[in-house]
Amino acid sequence: MSYKQIAPNIYAVGAFDPDIRNFHGYLTPHGSTYNAYLILDDKKCLVDTVKRPFTVDLIDNIRALIPLEEIDYIVCNHIEPDHSGALPTIAQLCPKATVVCTTAAEKGLRAYYKADFRFQIVGAGDTLSLGQKTLHFFPMPMVHWPDSMSTYVAEDALLFSNDAFGQHIGRPAYFDSELGWEILLERATDYYANIVLPFGMPVSRILGQLQGKPLSLIAPSHGVCIKDNIAPLVEKYNQWATGVTDPKKAVIAFDTMWGATKSMAEEIEYSLRQKGYEVTMFHMSATHVSTVMASVLDASYIALGSPTLNKQVMPTMAALLSYMKGLAPKKRLGRAFGAYGWSGESVGQIETMMQELDFTLETPLKALWRQ
Ligand code: FEO
Repeated sequence: MSYKQIAPNIYAVGAFDPDIRNFHGYLTPHGSTYNAYLILDDKKCLVDTVKRPFTVDLIDNIRALIPLEEIDYIVCNHIEPDHSGALPTIAQLCPKATVVCTTAAEKGLRAYYKADFRFQIVGAGDTLSLGQKTLHFFPMPMVHWPDSMSTYVAEDALLFSNDAFGQHIGRPAYFDSELGWEILLERATDYYANIVLPFGMPVSRILGQLQGKPLSLIAPSHGVCIKDNIAPLVEKYNQWATGVTDPKKAVIAFDTMWGATKSMAEEIEYSLRQKGYEVTMFHMSATHVSTVMASVLDASYIALGSPTLNKQVMPTMAALLSYMKGLAPKKRLGRAFGAYGWSGESVGQIETMMQELDFTLETPLKALWRQ
């Protein structure tokens, strides 16, 4: 059992998962958490649930505060199973509870769980009074699913931001003061780069809607609550959402067969350093694709290299191209490179992906056998 008061009559009652290492394809070397929150007012309200295997943790944490039967509302900010997996069980244990969510969430919950919860649909500007506290709902479609929503408690200037502002940290910490800015930023950067990056415009839209609202605490659905570092983290989100990059940061990612493409990568690295770039280099034979993205997030220059193997890029680079294309970093300066023995398709395939991401391309580097 593990719960914590995070604001007057508001408790974190979610679960820690320190051992998870792969979050649907994204490596989480520090584990994660599935945050849920319980508001004890005239009406009792649970905000989000947890991943299904952690249902017992959630039940134990709630029961340490109130009987589950007393819960009146379950706000479902997001239907992805890491936050809704426990909902069918919790709903059964809370017979009078109404599930409060967006139209898209209702549709998804019905389809995914084949269950008929009691729903109250909310949209932008809707409110729900719990007694002393009032919930204000901010649907945030595509941050990062169509159903996503954040919930604001005006009386506490508290935002339940769901996946926005999350971090994958499995340690038993509740507030950013327990981590410090450096670790918070590292984890929030990695999270944004691997989860939120494709959705810059919707992120900007929700940040705009929240502008001017007092904000004392951000309570996300993963990681710690943000209290001491709200302004710098919101500023980072603004930068990431609008595609601000560092003009002197570069990423080189490559794989190699017999060393020729690796030599090309090293030459590009040398040349970039001569021009004053800070360069991060990834040899993809020993690097997971998700490890690359935090560096890509603010890099203005991306060089990707692969030799040609059976008329293709190497499988490791194919995985990176597919992953990066999905996360869609835009408007970088890009360069493709690679060695080949006879057909040499790989460089063109890398360039095609970069063009689709609206990169400005530098002259590609191709080497017949080796430079
Ligand atoms: Fe943490 Fe989109 O689920």
